[in-house]
Amino acid sequence: MEKKLAVLVSGNGTNLEAIIKSDISVSLVIADQMCWGIELAHEHDIPSQIVRRLDYSNGAFNRFEYTKVIRKILLGREIDLVMMAGFMTILDRCIFDSYEMKVLNTHPSLLPAFQGKRAVRDALAAGVKITGCTLHYATERLDDDRFIVDQRSVPVYDTDTETTLHRRIKAKERIMVPENLRLLLR
Ligand code: GRF
Repeated sequence: MEKKLAVLVSGNGTNLEAIIKSDISVSLVIADQMCWGIELAHEHDIPSQIVRRLDYSNGAFNRFEYTKVIRKILLGREIDLVMMAGFMTILDRCIFDSYEMKVLNTHPSLLPAFQGKRAVRDALAAGVKITGCTLHYATERLDDDRFIVDQRSVPVYDTDTETTLHRRIKAKERIMVPENLRLLLR
């Protein structure tokens, strides 16, 4: 039986769109806020759920409680593999109690270079001529580079801004992510 995939999103959902267009079956979409990814799920009749980060942010963000809810939903739907595609909430390590080496993340740099939320800006500031994207298994370490699944390189042009460079990187991610998911879901 084919493994069941969930995709976690926060924003534009262009990676989710690329996954759907590649005829990969998505069993569930989860978002941490209302976003285009949820609209896409509706359009394609994919079950979806918003677990609002804000609902767990009474003062400080309760990452543990938030993650427990996500984990319960994933387990309830018998999800095998989780793809964080532009999901901007860092999950608590308790997700790995149930999904160790089963949560993938795509990051817009060639890890270990430029970890963190400003990867594209940092690559530009560093003056590198090549950057790219990385698909890796997420662990309790942010942007962990120990379990890299795939990487694709992208040239940096002198005329690039953060927007143009990120656009070029995302175009590569939209190829890299579905290609690998197809193999990993077998
Ligand atoms: C991607 O570049 C991903 O690497 C980063 O956020 C972006 C998500 O884009 N974490 P989208 O929401 O799939 O369009």
